[in-house]
Amino acid sequence: MTKVITYGTFDLFHVGHYRLLERAKALGDYLIVGVTTEAFDQARGKLNVVDSLVTRMENVKQTGFADEIIIEASEGQKFSDIKKYGIDIFTVGSDWQGKFDYLKDYCRVVYLERTKNVSSTMLRAKRCSIRRIGIIGTGRIAGRFMDEARAVSGIEPQGVYNPHPESTRRFAKRWDLNPYDSLEKFFADIDVAYVASPHETHYAYVKAALEHGKHVICEKPLALKKAQAKELFDCATARELVLLEGVKTAYCPGFRKLLGIACSGKIGAIRNVEACFTKLENPQTRELTDEEYGGSFLELGSYVLLPILKLFGLEYDELRFESIWGENGLDLFTKVSFRYPHGLATATCGLGVKAEGRLLIAGTLGYIVVEAPWWKTSYFEVHYEDPNKVEKYTEPYLAAGLRYEISDFLAQLGTEKNDFKLTRQESIAMAAIMEAFREAKERG
Ligand code: CTP
Repeated sequence: MTKVITYGTFDLFHVGHYRLLERAKALGDYLIVGVTTEAFDQARGKLNVVDSLVTRMENVKQTGFADEIIIEASEGQKFSDIKKYGIDIFTVGSDWQGKFDYLKDYCRVVYLERTKNVSSTMLRAKRCSIRRIGIIGTGRIAGRFMDEARAVSGIEPQGVYNPHPESTRRFAKRWDLNPYDSLEKFFADIDVAYVASPHETHYAYVKAALEHGKHVICEKPLALKKAQAKELFDCATARELVLLEGVKTAYCPGFRKLLGIACSGKIGAIRNVEACFTKLENPQTRELTDEEYGGSFLELGSYVLLPILKLFGLEYDELRFESIWGENGLDLFTKVSFRYPHGLATATCGLGVKAEGRLLIAGTLGYIVVEAPWWKTSYFEVHYEDPNKVEKYTEPYLAAGLRYEISDFLAQLGTEKNDFKLTRQESIAMAAIMEAFREAKERG
């Protein structure tokens, strides 16, 4: 019996996939098809796969060509599968020509002619007709976003707007974009706005973008008042537009996995969460000189609030702020303490005090620790009473990590579900806490 194996994502199953499987089956007597997991696709930079693993496996099964369907979860698995299943022929499409020649020592390698003019990438692009993105703001984060946007298919950076024409021109030249000095013209040429302007301008820009019928990705904090955040989401919903707050940690695979493990019962009931993020800033930067909108909490608060709101929810009994203030009245270091019905939490952040930037989640059976930079979660450990028992988890976190929120955003555009990994309610709760902090600061 000749055993054949092939692999693929098989997203949005199409005729190219069908013909590949048909010919793969004809090469032998028994065909094994490996279908990639979401995590594996993410790790190799394929971020906007539309169909779930279950759907993709079902579609392969429906062809009737596969005698066995397996899951491909990691690099290097092909080699071990060939040995494990006693494979005679490994086959893939001709787009991979030469890439798997290293397997020739173990079995025959056959590259089948790829079917012309069809691919999952093309089908995804067709589904996602809304994809010209315009950038508002030209700071560091906007540059990082440009790099990341290029790593995700289905999105096309178009133009940039900033009220300062010189900055706009410089940014446009650097990233090969159209510069705009009029917001009206800018909105007319785009489908999606990415708002990366100073914090206090987010609300007005997001509102304007939504009112012009544009979907929006907004840097954190979306708004500094609860009512403003709510108004923006209501406006998006009424116009059937997608609005996403870019707290990048919320969308990255490692943090998603961490939440899953924390809530799985492994560490029992969660009783305490401590999140800390400090970043020593040059005292001359906007973050430490803008007396109205600078300071540690407005800058870093979204990150440290995230795990607390995710793990304990939005209904806390008590909230308390304590800060170390600089001479200009900005908080150099802030601690927010929460009391929940069944637990405690602290969110700590600093721009002028350095501390160990850890995330600790304590439960009745054990605890989870994520060392800095936990906000780019790629590794964490689960510990128990027995110090010898430690479980270790790793997940990819690629480059600046904004690609995860961009791909989540694109996936939502297709479905109109607005069901983001950072929910509307969580974004509104964060704005409410920012507002409470600013009120407490006013009161002294
Ligand atoms: N394939 C093919 N003809 C096509 C598209 C895919 O023969 N027009 C083959 C690939 O070479 C591979 C298998 O089908 O052996 C699964 O490919 P996959 O990567 O899932 O599909 P693509 O359409 O190439 O996906 P993408 O656009 O995301 O790369």
